Amino acid sequence: MVAPNLLNPERRMLLAMQGQPGKEVWSLNDVLAACGWTDQAVAVGAGHGLQNHGLVNLHEKVLQEVRLDDEGERALADGLLEARLWAWMASQNEPSMKDLQNAFERHEAGPGVGLLKQLGVRLEGGVLRVEDSSAVQTAIEVRTAFLHDLPCSISDLDPVLLAHFSGRRNLVTTIEHTERTWTVTEAGKAIAPEDLVEHLVVTDITPELLQTDAWREAEFRRFDVTLEAATPRTGRSHPMQALIERIRTVFLEMGFSELVDDYVQSAGWNMDALFIPQDHPAREMQDTFYLDEPGEIPLDEALMATWKAIHEHGGETGSTGWGGSYSTEVSQRPLLRTHTTVNTVQYLARHPNEACRVFSVDRVFRKEAIDRTHLPEFHQIEGIIVEEGANLQMLVTTLKTFYAKMGYPEVRVRPAYFPYTEPSLEIEVKWRGKWLELGGAGIFRPEVTEPLGITSPVLAWGMGLERLAMLVLGLDDIRQLYISDLDWLRQQPIL
Ligand code: PHE
Repeated sequence: MVAPNLLNPERRMLLAMQGQPGKEVWSLNDVLAACGWTDQAVAVGAGHGLQNHGLVNLHEKVLQEVRLDDEGERALADGLLEARLWAWMASQNEPSMKDLQNAFERHEAGPGVGLLKQLGVRLEGGVLRVEDSSAVQTAIEVRTAFLHDLPCSISDLDPVLLAHFSGRRNLVTTIEHTERTWTVTEAGKAIAPEDLVEHLVVTDITPELLQTDAWREAEFRRFDVTLEAATPRTGRSHPMQALIERIRTVFLEMGFSELVDDYVQSAGWNMDALFIPQDHPAREMQDTFYLDEPGEIPLDEALMATWKAIHEHGGETGSTGWGGSYSTEVSQRPLLRTHTTVNTVQYLARHPNEACRVFSVDRVFRKEAIDRTHLPEFHQIEGIIVEEGANLQMLVTTLKTFYAKMGYPEVRVRPAYFPYTEPSLEIEVKWRGKWLELGGAGIFRPEVTEPLGITSPVLAWGMGLERLAMLVLGLDDIRQLYISDLDWLRQQPIL
């Protein structure tokens, strides 16, 4: 017969059993001794394997075993209470109750005398007496011997004594355990001993293994990758946090530095600085969260004068502006930023003549009704490149590089409109055969850069993080990201 592919412990156990053909039944201890093992689990495991191959039969018997409990261990070491009292009695001429109470603690004296009385000791005028002292002696010896014999199968014990000890506190306890024995089957006997020689079994391919020729002779352990395995539950980043970290890494690799700034801002920086007209619909209460506190965010008068000129007639930029009249009160209204461009434009104002590459991944707020694709709080991936000679081609290449590094190599741009960029474009990536819009970009208009004293071109973009997260995690409902569903969180890939 073709020998089944046995594991080393299975080979060893079967070989040992074949080695003693006269021996029918093998106990756990027999197997351990014959195989030179100390770990019961190895023997039981090997036995299971052999049983699965039909080479041994397993016989299991559930046994009740009586063992010493805490007090039983003590009695075995110091003597049973009745034995200690009896020894004390034997040492006295007139063993009086009074002396006994001095010699023993109260909690022992009372129950101890009770035990002796059951054995035939009587109390007469305060003195302990006994008629048949050898009967008491024998009873105590029998009880002590009982404890000495433990642990022991319940069926091998004297039922009267067992009942006696079971009625005393914490002396003995009964536990169930399974006794296993094995017998070799005909198929097991038929396996040739040559097939039971233990092999080097390789479970890990290591450089050391490959350096010699040992692997040529080795046997490779087969893995069943379809088997259920426990998934370790360890702490891990929220997928959103992990995605933000990945985006950071990509921008840092591309030579950008990160900008982190507040989300309470003035309408002036959030909109006026970006040449968004003061009557633009996006400024309305229903789109923007304005704040009551603080009452206003005071802005530099000179700066507002420049914005006023630009908005009303284009200032020095050659633009015609939006016309109408600009209000400094509107400019100083506090709000929750509606885009992170509010922070990049202030960064530019602080560093007007520096070439730079800056990015941020941060939270923005808009009064959106919550649905499958909208949340009132979300995140933007924002960035700028300021550099002499920077152009639209460079902007598109940068965005394509970013998305390619994120795993979306197919990117296209389409013309778009933003009040603060010219040209303006929309970025789309291909996902499951469809083009999805992920953000806006463009080159800042002179109406934005000139008041800040910037002469180099500024490439800028702002993209939705949640949109990207939906692609990366394959979601069709954006809310899934924030409901903290533990089962879902545990199933998310490590990004
Ligand atoms: N701020 C724009 C938005 O919120 C995106 C954008 C940023 C567009 C920079 C052009 C340049 O959608």
